[in-house]
Amino acid sequence: MRSEPSPQAAQETRPTPLLNVRNLCVRFPGPRSGRRRSWVHAAEDVSFAIQRGRTLGLVGESGSGKSTTGNALTGLVRPTSGTVHLDGQDVLAARGAQARELRRRIAMVFQDPYSSLDPRRTAGATVREPLDVHRMLPGRAERNRRVAELLDLVGLVPGTATRYPHELSGGQRQRVSIARALAADPDLIVLDESTAALDVSVQAQIMNLLRNLQGELGLTYLFISHDLAAVEHMSHRVVVMYLGRLMETGSTDDLYARPAHPYTQALMSAVPDADPTAEKHRERILLSGDPPSPLDPPSGCVFRTRCPLAADECAEPVPPVTLSDDHAAWCVRTDESLSPDRLRRLVH
Ligand SMILES: Nc1ncnc2c1ncn2[C@@H]1O[C@H](COP(=O)(O)OP(=O)(O)OP(=O)(O)O)[C@@H](O)[C@H]1O
Ligand SMILES: [Mg+2]
Repeated sequence: MRSEPSPQAAQETRPTPLLNVRNLCVRFPGPRSGRRRSWVHAAEDVSFAIQRGRTLGLVGESGSGKSTTGNALTGLVRPTSGTVHLDGQDVLAARGAQARELRRRIAMVFQDPYSSLDPRRTAGATVREPLDVHRMLPGRAERNRRVAELLDLVGLVPGTATRYPHELSGGQRQRVSIARALAADPDLIVLDESTAALDVSVQAQIMNLLRNLQGELGLTYLFISHDLAAVEHMSHRVVVMYLGRLMETGSTDDLYARPAHPYTQALMSAVPDADPTAEKHRERILLSGDPPSPLDPPSGCVFRTRCPLAADECAEPVPPVTLSDDHAAWCVRTDESLSPDRLRRLVH
């Protein structure tokens, strides 16, 4: 868990965020039935901000719209509506040189370094590519020197430059991907399940590397993961998504100590406890049924069809309920949250 100034102090001193995402919607064309086209509601009305030098964790089950949201920031998908500002500049409206410069400042590291690295390129050529594309340094010798520096920065020995992906371990490949992202000298790095494909011990090494790089270089991260423990370890703040929508947001400390949305509570109740005694008494909130289709999401709270606390009012549009200065949940029943007693009655 990473420390953050008290909410009040944060409120008073909060600078303009590095990244500001407002009301982002991404809809993909779905199947056509007759003359009617359906739409996959992959991200709906998603808003969040990230302060410079901080990490925002984005967590939720498969299909909740995490990658879609990340991809909308890096230009891999075109949002249907909404705005994205980097340092006050409108990323989606930018054109030409300004657009290229904004794109350079937002880098991405994917889940599977094996499929995201070109098998015919050496690690050195992979890391040099952004330097060439963005014409970052004048000469070949200087670019090669920078490649060596970047490999060293991510903990790889100089000989790695001449190696191909198949000659490297999973952890080494992910280090190459991180060096490639750093080559463009970005402000923000979108890390989409960047440690998910790795063994647990390698995962921990890569997370520590990312945290050290953040401290050294003042980087800002959007850390996307379905792994609640990894998100807790990496993030200052957290956003929880379900079926394309925000469910809850808050500082990591607050959200993990007092999850307010029944969906967050259900997610957290599914994580095994490292302490065997606590694990023996752990009570899971079992959600009934599968998530609804994103082609036809429920009205109001999209979680209501699986929520143990759902009531008639949940079919109406849900305003965010503020729990503290720094913590909000899109749930009208947060006062009814699942106390251990209530849970016992629901589960047994
Ligand atoms: N190009 C696309 N065309 C149509 N539907 C898409 C496309 N990309 C994503 N989707 C759909 O959008 C929804 C959100 O997908 P997304 O990949 O963003 O979820 P995710 O939270 O990243 O899931 P995971 O944890 O599995 O990576 C899903 O229902 C997915 O099937
Ligand atoms: Mg994804």
